[in-house]
Amino acid sequence: MIEDHRILRGSKVVLRPLASGDLRRCVKWFSDPQVTQFLGRNTPVTLAEEERWFRDYLRRGDEQIFAIEVDGRHVGNLGLHKVDRVHRKADLGIVIGEPTYWSRGYGTDALQAALAYGFDLLGLNKVSLDVLEDNVRAQRSYDKCGFVREGLHREDVFKDGRFLNVVRMSILSREFRDRQGSAA
Ligand SMILES: CC(C)(COP(=O)(O)OP(=O)(O)OC[C@H]1O[C@@H](n2cnc3c(N)ncnc32)[C@H](O)[C@@H]1OP(=O)(O)O)[C@@H](O)C(=O)NCCC(=O)NCCS
Repeated sequence: MIEDHRILRGSKVVLRPLASGDLRRCVKWFSDPQVTQFLGRNTPVTLAEEERWFRDYLRRGDEQIFAIEVDGRHVGNLGLHKVDRVHRKADLGIVIGEPTYWSRGYGTDALQAALAYGFDLLGLNKVSLDVLEDNVRAQRSYDKCGFVREGLHREDVFKDGRFLNVVRMSILSREFRDRQGSAA
């Protein structure tokens, strides 16, 4: 049997490539204010927009989006964006779209699996992300994975009538490996 390297296994979650059949669920999440309050984006998306985005995504080679599954249920997405083979870096985004699955360790587990894939299989040196300054749960999860605060984009996002600061965080390959070594 041929192993699909894009099926990533954490201890609690499985990550598999996002498929067109998942898009309806994504539209639901990205139209839910409970979820979107934590994201840089403001507007709800339509299925047509999401399908157009997915077609473009399949044509591009610099992005990999995974569906996060818990016990076979698709509960969120994780993306490696702007994968840069020259500078060996990428940006990461994650959303668990089902709020009942928040704060149960799934996000951190998905992040660890994606970082192992990015560093070990894609050969990345650095993975970065942006997070709204008041999104403390997400930052706690990133801290647990070893991301460090790299800087602050002041008043970078306008949301619900106010400008919000955005924190830039990153982790290097050697930092990830050191943490894995000390955890073993
Ligand atoms: C951010 C997200 C991916 C994290 O995944 P998760 O499964 O909820 O996170 P985890 O359970 O692995 O870790 C969250 C940690 O934050 C803690 N936490 C939760 N709410 C908190 C709060 N209000 N203040 C401080 N810590 C908080 C949890 O207790 C946990 O830490 P612990 O393990 O030390 O107890 C998920 O919550 C999510 O998708 N949220 C909505 C969208 C979003 O914010 N995306 C990220 C955009 S940058």
